[in-house]
Amino acid sequence: MAPMAGEDGMDNKLLFDKAVSYITALFKDNSGGHGTDHTFRVYRNAMYIAENEHGCDKEAVGLAALLHDADDYKLFKTVDNSHARAFLRENGFSPVRIDEICKIINSVSFSQNIGRTPDSIEGKVVQDADRLDAIGAVGIARTFAYGGENGRTMGESITHFYDKLLLLRDLMNTETAKRIAIIRHEFMELYLKELFTELKID
Ligand code: NI
Repeated sequence: MAPMAGEDGMDNKLLFDKAVSYITALFKDNSGGHGTDHTFRVYRNAMYIAENEHGCDKEAVGLAALLHDADDYKLFKTVDNSHARAFLRENGFSPVRIDEICKIINSVSFSQNIGRTPDSIEGKVVQDADRLDAIGAVGIARTFAYGGENGRTMGESITHFYDKLLLLRDLMNTETAKRIAIIRHEFMELYLKELFTELKID
């Protein structure tokens, strides 16, 4: 599903469209399109959460969401957010603004920010948006897709639920994300219960 600019998204449609083209081209050679799908869902989650956060800078949230995996160390060998920075520079953002957006991006990663909460509301929103995409029905699908691509057994994929996915509900920053996370968490528990019944290992 393609994301939207406008009413529920970023105000600057041209900038939004350029960002979509930029990341689509970036991920085409690097992750078989999975990165793009995930990025668009994170953008939609982020814009939805931002609606309920007063004083939230929606342009920064939208750009950070769209660019949040543009320099993912698992996919790219870039340093200092060079893909994100190149896009923002090309589109006339000031160095200060670019630093602001990169700071939001860098506060998102789960593995690189254990125990740390983003200090800006924009960072909190984008982090929640990314984490929401790791849980629930989408999270289950992503876990097994990733497991398949990386030669993991079903058991190894299930371990990932306990190592990460089932912890995320209690780590959400915003009330909106907490509300959504509760539903997605319950669904994962239901799924695991049924899975163990079928595997008879409960
Ligand atoms: Ni992500």
